[in-house]
Amino acid sequence: MAKGRILTGDRPTGPLHLGHWVGSLQNRVRLQDEYDAFIIIADVQALTTNFENPGKIAEDVRQVALDYLAVGLDPNKATIFIQSFVKEIAELTVFYSMFVTVNRLRHNPTIKTEAKQYGYQDMTYGFLGYPVSQAADITFCKANLVPVGEDQVPHIEFARTIARRFNELYKPVLVEPSALVGEVGRLVGLDGQAKMSKSLGNAIYLSDSAEEVAKKISMAVTDPARMKRTDLGHPEVCTIFSYHKVFNVPEAVVDLEGQCRKAEIGCVDCKKRLAALLNGLLDPMREKRAYYESHPDMVEEILINGTESARQVGRQTMEEVREAMSLNYFAGRYE
Ligand code: TRP
Repeated sequence: MAKGRILTGDRPTGPLHLGHWVGSLQNRVRLQDEYDAFIIIADVQALTTNFENPGKIAEDVRQVALDYLAVGLDPNKATIFIQSFVKEIAELTVFYSMFVTVNRLRHNPTIKTEAKQYGYQDMTYGFLGYPVSQAADITFCKANLVPVGEDQVPHIEFARTIARRFNELYKPVLVEPSALVGEVGRLVGLDGQAKMSKSLGNAIYLSDSAEEVAKKISMAVTDPARMKRTDLGHPEVCTIFSYHKVFNVPEAVVDLEGQCRKAEIGCVDCKKRLAALLNGLLDPMREKRAYYESHPDMVEEILINGTESARQVGRQTMEEVREAMSLNYFAGRYE
């Protein structure tokens, strides 16, 4: 049987953090053997919020590429590529935008949340329309599975609708994708208030040093009712405990919960254990990152090769799309 195909990726707007790891990266690494995996660095999508400073995107692309390699995406298995160079994605976006309605985009919950977050009264055409572009990211390679964090689910459903509509309007050439959300779709940030995110300054980055991780954890708020070491704890309201639940083994979580409630363990110790645990996860990533950081030519070659493979797939899809839409005037004699 042919392998299924995954497509997923990130906007290069800064380094990736633990929220990305639990939401999506972990699934990608796990599935790269079983699936034919395409990983997109969505630099055009990064322009939706960075069009005034496009100069910073190059460094962010490099950081995201290093994050991918550091977590163990293997360029021999996964095709890592850059969105803006796969021009077929831009072409598809234009074709899709003819049958997508503006109202549909305005009602997209993720767009609404993000518009509020960025304070957009009047959205740019590109920002409002980025879900169309994201649908093109997913469908140009006919991906059937999209590992993402919870906030991305409306976009994947939208891509599904677009693929279905295209297939009905023209010919059934596109694949309808499904979302695959990580076990922890949404990781809370160090502030305990909102989801972990770069813009909120509450993130632990995959590229943080062991000392930075320990420091961030030591400064995080725990149970506000627990002022003294002898006060009984309430793990259910504690951000540190919520991380133990995500990253620690189940037996340890049960133990910690009991010890916290009976004040048998203090927050300082509990935090130290968490820092050790997270650094245990991040150490192998740090090692791989250091290797690729000292081999920039290799990273560039991985990105160029990946992008070239993605383009080949894109050209093939565009041929079928043009044929389905009766736009193949030269029937393969010119492309
Ligand atoms: N919107 C995603 C994010 O903000 C990034 C992204 C772009 C993406 N294209 C994609 C994710 C296609 C999954 C599939 O992180």
